[in-house]
Amino acid sequence: MSQSSEKAFETLLLEMAQLFELEQQELGHEEAGETASVLREAAGKTEPILAKPYDYDHLVEKTLASAQHPCAVAARDSMPFIQWENTAGILDEYIPDAVSSAFAGNQLMGPGSLIDHPSLRAGLYFQCANSYYALHHHEAVETYIMIDGTGDWTQGDVTTSYGVEGLIHHTSFMPHAFRTFDKPLMAIWRWSGNIDPSTYKMLPDENG
Ligand SMILES: [Fe+2]
Repeated sequence: MSQSSEKAFETLLLEMAQLFELEQQELGHEEAGETASVLREAAGKTEPILAKPYDYDHLVEKTLASAQHPCAVAARDSMPFIQWENTAGILDEYIPDAVSSAFAGNQLMGPGSLIDHPSLRAGLYFQCANSYYALHHHEAVETYIMIDGTGDWTQGDVTTSYGVEGLIHHTSFMPHAFRTFDKPLMAIWRWSGNIDPSTYKMLPDENG
């Protein structure tokens, strides 16, 4: 693969680190700072692996073609190394296909991932236009930071529209759901606390 894709992957890790550092600075989340440190440490030292083709690759590429945020640009330029999967490969047994078809996930950091870490997860998230990821919760503490598009994010009883650099934080077991409209959504995500996927559960959802 070209040098530029490898350089872009290094940049992606650094851009993700910078966004999680902002989370730590603005909200005081220590785990966000720890995640940023691991990403920063991995940048330039982690040899990326060529991704296997995934059904949603063309949708992601089309979305990122006009991306402007530096993190989204880095994601676009390192696409050969971004392994998109159903539910980032960790929640397949907990999310019905009818729900998970709304999105694709990527995990760059976590147990057994490219950036191997026992207690922190992080990656990229893509959600199709005009789709709904219904209400769910889990014990892991979670943050999404938008890098392209817009979406309505439900956190408990509150629904808020977020655009690029919108930061959405879910405390442990906070119910959450995401809706897109005419454009897809791209975000980075992280998990801390109890990152065992087995606490994940879909919830009754009158909007689903
Ligand atoms: Fe979540």
